[in-house]
Amino acid sequence: MGFLGQFSTVMLVSLPFVLAAHPRFLGTHIHNARAINSSYDYIIVGGGTSGLTVANRLTEDPKVNVLVLEAGLMDQGETYFSEPSLAGGAVGTKYDWNVTGVANPQLNNRSVTLPLGKVVGGSSMLNRMVFDRGSKADYDMWRDLGNPGWGFDDLLPYFIKDLFTQASHDGFGLLLRTSVMRSPVWASRSRMMGANISSGSAYGFFWGPTSLDPSKETRSSARSGPYEVAKNRTNFHLLSSQQVTKLILDSSGPEIKIEGVEFKSSSSAPVQTVTANKEVILAAGSIHTAALLQLSGIGDAAVLSKLDQTVALDLPGVGNNFHDHQYVVLAYTAANLSLSTANLTTNATFAAEAQAEYENDATGPLTTTGTSAMAFLPLSSYAKNSSSAILSAISAAPANVSLSTAAPPSVVQGHMAQRSLYSKFLAAQDAASMEYIWSDPSLLIALVKPLSRGSVTITTLDPFVQPAVDWRALSDPADLQMLNAGIEFGRALYGTSALKVLEATEAMPGLATSAESYVRDTLATIYHPAGTCSMLPKDLGGVVDVDLKVYGVSNLRIVDASIMPVLPATHTSSTVYAVAEKVSFYSKPLTFFFGVL
Ligand SMILES: Cc1cc2nc3c(=O)[nH]c(=O)nc-3n(C[C@H](O)[C@H](O)[C@H](O)COP(=O)(O)OP(=O)(O)OC[C@H]3O[C@@H](n4cnc5c(N)ncnc54)[C@H](O)[C@@H]3O)c2cc1C
Ligand SMILES: *[C@@H]1O[C@H](CO)[C@@H](O)[C@H](O)[C@H]1NC(C)=O
Ligand SMILES: *[C@@H]1O[C@H](CO)[C@@H](O)[C@H](O)[C@H]1NC(C)=O
Ligand SMILES: *[C@@H]1O[C@H](CO)[C@@H](O)[C@H](O)[C@H]1NC(C)=O
Ligand SMILES: *[C@@H]1O[C@H](CO)[C@@H](O)[C@H](O)[C@H]1NC(C)=O
Ligand SMILES: *[C@@H]1O[C@H](CO)[C@@H](O)[C@H](O)[C@H]1NC(C)=O
Ligand SMILES: *[C@@H]1O[C@H](CO)[C@@H](O)[C@H](O)[C@H]1NC(C)=O
Ligand SMILES: *[C@@H]1O[C@H](CO)[C@@H](O)[C@H](O)[C@H]1NC(C)=O
Ligand SMILES: *[C@@H]1O[C@H](CO)[C@@H](O)[C@H](O)[C@H]1NC(C)=O
Ligand SMILES: *[C@@H]1O[C@H](CO)[C@@H](O)[C@H](O)[C@H]1NC(C)=O
Ligand SMILES: *[C@@H]1O[C@H](CO)[C@@H](O)[C@H](O)[C@H]1NC(C)=O
Repeated sequence: MGFLGQFSTVMLVSLPFVLAAHPRFLGTHIHNARAINSSYDYIIVGGGTSGLTVANRLTEDPKVNVLVLEAGLMDQGETYFSEPSLAGGAVGTKYDWNVTGVANPQLNNRSVTLPLGKVVGGSSMLNRMVFDRGSKADYDMWRDLGNPGWGFDDLLPYFIKDLFTQASHDGFGLLLRTSVMRSPVWASRSRMMGANISSGSAYGFFWGPTSLDPSKETRSSARSGPYEVAKNRTNFHLLSSQQVTKLILDSSGPEIKIEGVEFKSSSSAPVQTVTANKEVILAAGSIHTAALLQLSGIGDAAVLSKLDQTVALDLPGVGNNFHDHQYVVLAYTAANLSLSTANLTTNATFAAEAQAEYENDATGPLTTTGTSAMAFLPLSSYAKNSSSAILSAISAAPANVSLSTAAPPSVVQGHMAQRSLYSKFLAAQDAASMEYIWSDPSLLIALVKPLSRGSVTITTLDPFVQPAVDWRALSDPADLQMLNAGIEFGRALYGTSALKVLEATEAMPGLATSAESYVRDTLATIYHPAGTCSMLPKDLGGVVDVDLKVYGVSNLRIVDASIMPVLPATHTSSTVYAVAEKVSFYSKPLTFFFGVL
C-alpha cells in the first residue's frame, strides 16, 4: 500500500487550476448515418482513447461542434469490459481489429497478431488496465529529439489533469487505485532482492496503479470517462460502425487543406461524406492513422507510387519508425501457491464466493487484474554482467542496422538521432529498458526500449484490407542481447529467498532450450504500437510538428499513439491520455475555449 500512497500523492498533489462548469444537454449518440449534419467544426476520426479525450475537451465550448466517427460498435455492457478480473476478455471478439503482422524472418517466419480496440472507447476498453507512466528520461528524450515543450515537466500537468478532472465527475473518471492482493508479497520479495522500491519514479519494483473506478471497482476507460462526461452535449455527435475510408483533400493552395472525410459502414455500403469547417483530427491509432493517410495520398512517395496511388503529399515518415513493446513468458509451476487466484479456476465454491463478493460490495479477488506487480529496470540492474558489452555493441553497430533498406533518408537520419540518445538512456540508472510483470507464479519479461524499427504500409487502395504491419522485431541484434540478459535476470529472481518459498520449477523455456531460440519462437507484442506518425522535425522523418499538426497540411492533426517518436518505458494508455489533453489545451486553435492552465 505504501507505494501507492506515495505514488498517488505525487500524481494528485497541488492541482494548478480550477475545474470549469460543464454545460449539460441531451443525448446525441447517433446510430443512423442519415441523421448527422453535413458539416462540423471538428471531425475526429476514431472514437478511442485519444479521440474521445479530445472530443470531450473540444465540446466543453458549446459554440464548437464536433463529430466523432468510429469504425467499431458501441458496447452492450459486456462484463469483460467492466470487471477487472476479466480485463482483456474482449480480445478476439467483434470488438477487436485482430490485425496480423507480416512474417518476420527473425521470428522464424512467425506472424504476430496485434489486438486493437474496435469499439467506442478503443483500446482503453480492451487493455489490461495497468495505468503507469514513464520516467523523466523517457519524455525528456522526446524533447531532445527536437520537440520543445514535450519533456517530462511539460507533460506532468496533463498526467495530473486527466486523472483529476475525470475523477471529479461523479466517479466517472480515471483514478489511481490498486488492489492489495499480492502487493506485500512482491514488496518483501523485491526488497530481499536488493532492489529499492521506487516512490514516484517509474523505475524499480512497484505495485502498479490501475485504471479502475474505485467506487464500483470497474474499468475506467475513454468510454466511461470522457465519453460519459460529454455524450449529452448537443454540440457533440458520435457515429459508431462507420469507417473513415479517405480524407477529402483540396490541393489548390500552397498547403493542402482537408475539406472533410469519406466514410462507409462496410465495404459494400455506399460512400458518405461530411465536411470539416475547421479541422480534421486523426485518432485512429498507430496502425489505422498511418494507413488512412496513405489511402488519402499522404505518405512516402516511393511506397504510394508502387500502388498507383496519386501522391498528394510526399511525407516519408508516414508508417515508418514503427515499434512496439514485446515480451516473452518465463513460465514456472509452483508447488506452494497458497495465495493464488488459480483457485478461481480450480475451485468452483471459491469462484462463486468471489463473484458474490464482487457483485455485493465490490471486494475480493475479482477486483484485481492480477498483473499489477511490476518492475521496470535499467540495463545496469538486469544485465549486470553484460551491460557494457551491450552498450559497446550498440555504438559499434552501423546506425542503420535497425532499419529496413527501404527506409527513406529522413527516417534514417531520425533513427540516428534516436540512437545517440538511446546510448545515454540505456547507460542511465534512472531509466528503464526491461519490464517484469509478475503473473503468479510466472514472469512476463518485456523489452520496453527496443531499437528495431518496422513499418505500417497499405498493400492495396481498398480501405477494408488491413495494412501490412511489419515489426522487424529483433532486426537490431542489441534487442536480442537485452532480452537474453532480461531472461537470465528473471531466472535469478527465482533463486532469491523471497521467491524460493514458491518451490517453483521453470517450465519454459527450460534449460534445454536456448534463450535465443525461445525468444525467436515466442516473442509477442504487449500491445503498445507507436511511432508511425512521429512528432519529429520533418528532416528526421517527422509527420507532425509540436502542435501535432501534419507537415504540409493546414488543418490536420494527429493525437493518438502514433505520434510518440520513441515509446516510453511504460504501458501507453496514460501517456496517450496526457498527449490528448495537452494538445486540447495548448494547441492553436484549440486554446480559445478553455484558457490556459
Ligand atoms: C489488449 C490490449 C492490452 C493493453 N494493455 C494496456 C495496459 O494494461 N495499460 C496501458 O496503459 N495500455 C495498454 N494497452 C495500450 C493502450 O490501451 C493503447 O496504447 C491506447 O489505448 C491507444 O490509444 P489510441 O487513441 O492511440 O488508439 P485506440 O484507443 O485504439 O483508438 C483508435 C480508435 O479508432 C478507431 N478506428 C480505427 N480506424 C478507423 C477508421 N478508419 N475510421 C473510424 N474509426 C477508426 C478504432 O476502432 C478505435 O476505436 C493495451 C492495448 C491492448 C489492445
Ligand atoms: C485473428 O486473426 C488470426 C490470424 O489471421 C486468426 O487465426 C483468428 O481466427 C482471428 N480471430 C478472430 C476473432 O477473427
Ligand atoms: C523463412 O522464409 C524464407 C522465405 O520463404 C525461407 O527462405 C527461410 O528458410 C525461412 N526461415 C525459417 C527459419 O523457416
Ligand atoms: C531507497 O530509496 C529511498 C527513497 O529514495 C532512499 O531514502 C533509500 O536510501 C534507498 N535505499 C537504498 C538501500 O538504496
Ligand atoms: C445524460 O442523459 C441521461 C438521459 O437523460 C441521464 O440519465 C444522464 O445522467 C446524463 N448524463 C450526464 C453526464 O449528464
Ligand atoms: C446540427 O445542425 C443543426 C441545424 O443547423 C444545429 O442546430 C446543431 O447545432 C448541429 N449539431 C451539431 C452537433 O453540429
Ligand atoms: C487454493 O489452492 C491451494 C492449492 O491448491 C490450496 O492450498 C488453498 O487452500 C486454496 N484456497 C482456497 C481459498 O480455495
Ligand atoms: C474451495 O473454496 C472453499 C471456499 O473458499 C474452501 O472452503 C475450500 O477449502 C476450497 N477447496 C479446496 C480443495 O481448496
Ligand atoms: C554474473 O557473473 C557472476 C560472476 O562471474 C556469476 O556468478 C553470475 O552467475 C552471473 N550472473 C548472470 C545473471 O549471468
Ligand atoms: C546502411 O548504410 C550502409 C552504408 O551507408 C549501406 O550500405 C546499407 O545499405 C545501409 N543499410 C540499411 C539497412 O539501410
Ligand atoms: C509456502 O508459502 C507460505 C506463504 O508464502 C510460506 O509461509 C511457507 O513457508 C511456504 N512453504 C514452504 C515449504 O516453503
